[in-house]
Amino acid sequence: MQFFVDTADVDEIRNLAATGLVDGVTTNPSLIAKSGRDFIEVIKEICDLVDGPVSAEVAATDHDTMLAEGRKLAKIADNVAVKVPLTPDGLKTCKTLADAGTKVNVTLCFSPGQAILAAKAGAAFISPFVGRLDDISSDGMALIDEICTVYSNYTDFETKVLVASIRSPQHVIEAAKIGADVCTVPPGVLWQLFKHPLTDAGLKAFLADWAETGQSILGN
Ligand code: E4P
Repeated sequence: MQFFVDTADVDEIRNLAATGLVDGVTTNPSLIAKSGRDFIEVIKEICDLVDGPVSAEVAATDHDTMLAEGRKLAKIADNVAVKVPLTPDGLKTCKTLADAGTKVNVTLCFSPGQAILAAKAGAAFISPFVGRLDDISSDGMALIDEICTVYSNYTDFETKVLVASIRSPQHVIEAAKIGADVCTVPPGVLWQLFKHPLTDAGLKAFLADWAETGQSILGN
């Protein structure tokens, strides 16, 4: 499973990238607004920090403008994945960009039918939003399961399932059990994945016992 970080906060990305566990980054207009920074500059900086795909989302809703925006975003760096919404114009734009060799992430997916359309449009990634489905008392993980099942029936579907709108470590674990390709994880959730009280307690006890030996592995 690959881990993308779901943020436009460059400092957070730098810290997480240093762990060696970050395979890519996703942003969206809300995350860019939260950063308070210039969109193009932020994407450039993120692409310098991370080798894997960096999703940058178009803001237009009509095909012609989306395509122009997508082409501009794709020129920022080789690892930009242009993000488009799951609408007829979005998928038309996806097809055009994908045919030209640009990676496209189709976002705001809430049904298996939508995911089939995105795969047919040549999307590199489909982003089903699990948290937002859970928020309305629907089952976000059931959608991931359905999409993975459908995609596995067709060898010509190369679209990766990118689990988005993740709210907890449990979402990541459930997505991994299903076999989803990628989880895009908010920084807080990624840090939470490291944590277990028994790890902390165990380490504390080991360090105390080690100190009693008076030894040093690297010598004095
Ligand atoms: C990422 O690609 C999505 O835009 C993001 O995961 C949405 O998350 P949210 O539902 O917490 O806003």
